[in-house]
Amino acid sequence: MIIPINSEYRPRVNQFVADEWAGPMVVTKGILHDTSKAEGFVSVDDGELTGYALYAIENSQCEILVLHSLLENHGIGSALIRTVMDVARKNRCMRIWLITTNDNIHAIRFYQRFGFELKGVYINALEESRKLKSSIPLTGNEGIPLKHEFEFSYSL
Ligand SMILES: CC(C)(COP(=O)(O)OP(=O)(O)OC[C@H]1O[C@@H](n2cnc3c(N)ncnc32)[C@H](O)[C@@H]1OP(=O)(O)O)[C@@H](O)C(=O)NCCC(=O)NCCS
Repeated sequence: MIIPINSEYRPRVNQFVADEWAGPMVVTKGILHDTSKAEGFVSVDDGELTGYALYAIENSQCEILVLHSLLENHGIGSALIRTVMDVARKNRCMRIWLITTNDNIHAIRFYQRFGFELKGVYINALEESRKLKSSIPLTGNEGIPLKHEFEFSYSL
């Protein structure tokens, strides 16, 4: 079941964002976002949190700030994206977009198979991000140096 994030689930989501992304602040394209105040949805199964997506709508564009499936390969990530897409369409957004990093091979695969297009690659963007958020590690998934941002976009 996908529901809008509420006061019951917000603390758990905040904790996950803190643990996974050293949140609540995340940096995309040189901009700091406070995810603890962002709108979003949670995936819930028998009262258990199984995933969450946080987003921001600005200038007719919807940015997914964080997407996290706690139970992979069960359709949760896709369901969360589709739910954010519905909201984006209702808000007359032209596109939905997100930033992921060069180490996130799984997400890069997932977004392209979902139908997102690679829109930009920002070389060494993480150097600038670390000036805003020094806790961003130097190494990411599978020991890959964490350096570049990939922008994926889906036209609505
Ligand atoms: C990337 C991420 C969000 C994907 O979430 P997910 O819940 O695994 O996504 P889905 O289950 O919808 O889709 C993943 C795969 O499972 C498949 N799948 C979906 N439902 C399925 C089912 N019932 N049975 C078997 N496979 C299924 C999908 O077709 C997809 O296959 P593909 O990768 O070959 O295209 C997740 O891996 C994640 O949270 N990663 C860590 C955090 C992260 O990197 N977030 C993105 C940062 S930008």
